[in-house]
Amino acid sequence: MLTGLVLALSVLGSLIGAADARKMMSKSELHARQVEAAKRFERTPRAVAKNHNITFKNPKASQFYVDGKSIPEVDFDVGPSWSGLMPISADPNETRKLFFWFFPPGPEGSLDDLIFWTNGGPGCSSLEGFLQENGPFQWGVGTAKPIPNVNSWTNLSSVLWVEQPVGTGFSQGEPNIKDDDDLAAQVVGFMNQFLEVFAELQGKKLYLSGESYAGQFIPYIANYIYENPTALNLSLQGIWISDPVLGWVVTQSEIPAVDFVHKYENVFAFNQSFMAELDAIAVQCNYAGYYEKFATYPPAGPLPLPGNSTGADPGCDVWDTVFAAALEKNPAFNIYRIFDTFPVLWDVLGFPGSFADVQLSPLYFDRTDVKEAIHAPVNVSWTECANINVFPNDDASLPSSFSVLPKVIEKSARTVIVHGLADFILIAEGTRMITILHMLTQKTGGGLQGFQTPIANDSLIVDGVGSLGTAHTERGLTFVEVELSGHMVPQFSPLAAFQSMSFLMGFRATP
Ligand SMILES: *[C@@H]1O[C@H](CO)[C@@H](O)[C@H](O)[C@H]1NC(C)=O
Ligand SMILES: *[C@@H]1O[C@H](CO)[C@@H](O)[C@H](O)[C@H]1NC(C)=O
Ligand SMILES: *[C@@H]1O[C@H](CO)[C@@H](O)[C@H](O)[C@H]1NC(C)=O
Ligand SMILES: *[C@@H]1O[C@H](CO)[C@@H](O)[C@H](O)[C@H]1NC(C)=O
Ligand SMILES: *[C@@H]1O[C@H](CO)[C@@H](O)[C@H](O)[C@H]1NC(C)=O
Ligand SMILES: *[C@@H]1O[C@H](CO)[C@@H](O)[C@H](O)[C@H]1NC(C)=O
Ligand SMILES: *[C@@H]1O[C@H](CO)[C@@H](O)[C@H](O)[C@H]1NC(C)=O
Ligand SMILES: *[C@@H]1O[C@H](CO)[C@@H](O)[C@H](O)[C@H]1NC(C)=O
Repeated sequence: MLTGLVLALSVLGSLIGAADARKMMSKSELHARQVEAAKRFERTPRAVAKNHNITFKNPKASQFYVDGKSIPEVDFDVGPSWSGLMPISADPNETRKLFFWFFPPGPEGSLDDLIFWTNGGPGCSSLEGFLQENGPFQWGVGTAKPIPNVNSWTNLSSVLWVEQPVGTGFSQGEPNIKDDDDLAAQVVGFMNQFLEVFAELQGKKLYLSGESYAGQFIPYIANYIYENPTALNLSLQGIWISDPVLGWVVTQSEIPAVDFVHKYENVFAFNQSFMAELDAIAVQCNYAGYYEKFATYPPAGPLPLPGNSTGADPGCDVWDTVFAAALEKNPAFNIYRIFDTFPVLWDVLGFPGSFADVQLSPLYFDRTDVKEAIHAPVNVSWTECANINVFPNDDASLPSSFSVLPKVIEKSARTVIVHGLADFILIAEGTRMITILHMLTQKTGGGLQGFQTPIANDSLIVDGVGSLGTAHTERGLTFVEVELSGHMVPQFSPLAAFQSMSFLMGFRATP
């Protein structure tokens, strides 16, 4: 998740000034590229895990083994798994360690692949994803006890949930990263230690996935792996990010906020005079009509800032104005999924929501019996999002869409960007603008910018559901928007998340 809209980055020159000349491609060139892109999508059928139980020869693996029948409150066998702390380097004195939980594939999962998952924040635990999004069992908000997750990503392949960067969750050590390249180097360092113990996973196809601030982490980790091809004995294939931080706060939260309120007028239930006030701010701050003007197919050029700030100019923070008014009308208003109403449901992890959950019982991962069962340090008090800054001097990297993401898209077989349409902390329309405009500025082969053709209505067809939003693919990038889903798409729309992940991995032809 995203805690606070903190991308306070002020490097504007490269963004605004980089309107390099772009030539249009001829139709036949475009066709040739599409054929080429389609080839990259071909994939041999997956080797299914049925009747194969992964075992690890390295004796060190046994110290991480978790008995699937002994997980507190879980009254069914979740099968074998491995978890614990792993150092980020081979230095015997290394004090920095990341906490992981690894699950082998379920009965229908592939043996050839490995999914890496991280939550965002920065500083929020991937055990949230594990317990409430895509793990093999789940303890959902407002529910009495854990149940098996029929949409577990372990049904696709092995999955590795990692609490990173250093300072997050159970992970140990002093945070010392300045940017996302540092973060990527530490993750790769951790992965190498992990692959030494779990050596049977070496050489697998790797898929990096995550949500929210992981829209920053994941492209940088992928870029690091592509640029250091011998750093890791895994074969990176592509990335999946949902409701991602990709660009400026003004683009992802401020510009689209008033359009969003209009789209969901009946949910916000604001009075007429307040709606008129919002419209006036949108006009004054150049938010009104911005989407219509710049989100064209193909786009005319990079997105300009609507004012002087990458956040909000004075008097233009309409996102916070809407948030405050929404909480007045609906005290249970949830920025992560706007449809929530009173009462606020009990959450065994205590977060996320518009505010921290007040509850009497301990957070699940802060229970001693849970820590003992998963080889977590019992003397560490676990909270879903760190109270410290995991980037001691903030994250110095540019947003991923201005830097590494276009390169990662080019080098990956597939890239999937997903956004829930009921998410208010990051708004789909902002992500759509960035995706269709900024991305795919491919210098190689013609320099096409953005999507060339419009996203069609009802183009996301989820098996067993029907149309559930839109999906559009061009030149290796797939953008999916999911109706009714909040910020955490695997939690709020598990079928759409599973299906688009399955597409990323080449197990199906459409997202
Ligand atoms: C794998 O494990 C399951 C459950 O423990 C067991 O029934 C099965 O026989 C094992 N398969 C192999 C090939 O060892
Ligand atoms: C680890 O720390 C010990 C004690 O400070 C020191 O003697 C040793 O040289 C260190 N080892 C390495 C590889 O740095
Ligand atoms: C998917 O995973 C869940 C939880 O492990 C399991 O109950 C279910 O049988 C799996 N389904 C398939 C098709 O593998
Ligand atoms: C990488 O993994 C493959 C597959 O397990 C293995 O055969 C190979 O030796 C490994 N390469 C290195 C450099 O460790
Ligand atoms: C942006 O900066 C210019 C020059 O300093 C100023 O004239 C203008 O009023 C500012 N715009 C806003 C919306 O603050
Ligand atoms: C209209 O809504 C705004 C924002 O919630 C509030 O400040 C104002 O008092 C409301 N006016 C009426 C008449 O309810
Ligand atoms: C927890 O215990 C470990 C091992 O004894 C120790 O290294 C670490 O510093 C302790 N952490 C805290 C937060 O007390
Ligand atoms: C898509 O749906 C919107 C309404 O949701 C409508 O305004 C628009 O015309 C539709 N586009 C096409 C191409 O049918």
